[in-house]
Amino acid sequence: MKLEVPTHVGIIMDGNGRYAKSLGKPRSYGHKAGADNLKKLCKHILKRGIKCLSLYAFSTDNFKRPKEEVDYLMKLFVTMFTNNFDFLKKEEVKVLFSGRKEGLPEDVIAACEKIEKQTQNKQKYTLNICLNYGSQEEITDTFKKIIKQIQNGQIDIEDVDKNLISKNLYQDLPPLDFVIRTSGEKRLSNFMLWQSSYAEFYFPKCYFPEFDEAEFDKALDVYRERKRRFGGLNKN
Ligand code: FPP
Repeated sequence: MKLEVPTHVGIIMDGNGRYAKSLGKPRSYGHKAGADNLKKLCKHILKRGIKCLSLYAFSTDNFKRPKEEVDYLMKLFVTMFTNNFDFLKKEEVKVLFSGRKEGLPEDVIAACEKIEKQTQNKQKYTLNICLNYGSQEEITDTFKKIIKQIQNGQIDIEDVDKNLISKNLYQDLPPLDFVIRTSGEKRLSNFMLWQSSYAEFYFPKCYFPEFDEAEFDKALDVYRERKRRFGGLNKN
């Protein structure tokens, strides 16, 4: 029996730089092409009935890139969150951001907070944007949060189980069913390690700006053919 569409999809949007290079253009061209693609792709993913989408937009380690590229990306995020995601507001999408605020420019934080506020009461879909995000950092922050709750007497050490840990991550989201990383690289690179414990993985060769609606549908077909056992045995 084929699987239903995944509830929670994660996309590691990789290959913008190589896409630009393949066309003899600067890396910024690739990021802009990635952003343009993302807008179309989000609309398509909504149409496919995926309830929750997590995007790896900028990792904590991406700050190691040249200042010029980091500055370009930060400006692009502000433009995207301020103007280009307007369609989300009409579509019952709650926008959330995962990651540390420290280190992000003020205007990026303001743009994130604005769209989070504008969409906070939306219920049907969730778009979780991982920005200045690292999964090991998230797990570290969650440890600290839980330890404080124990120290304050809000919970006992015996209350700590995987459910409680999941609920104390940056966002309380369903587990990832399907993780896609474009550009042929086969790594998680510190993306939602806890949440992807039982996820299926897919590594298309195309660069993110080329990962269009048809490529996404191909990915969904691959997912639906997978046999998920969660450590048990197949029923059929
Ligand atoms: C990885 O490709 C991509 C990024 C670090 C940036 C992702 C950003 C976008 C797709 C822009 C829009 C995003 C949002 C959420 C508004 P890379 O630069 O590492 O590519 P390379 O490995 O080929 O160098």
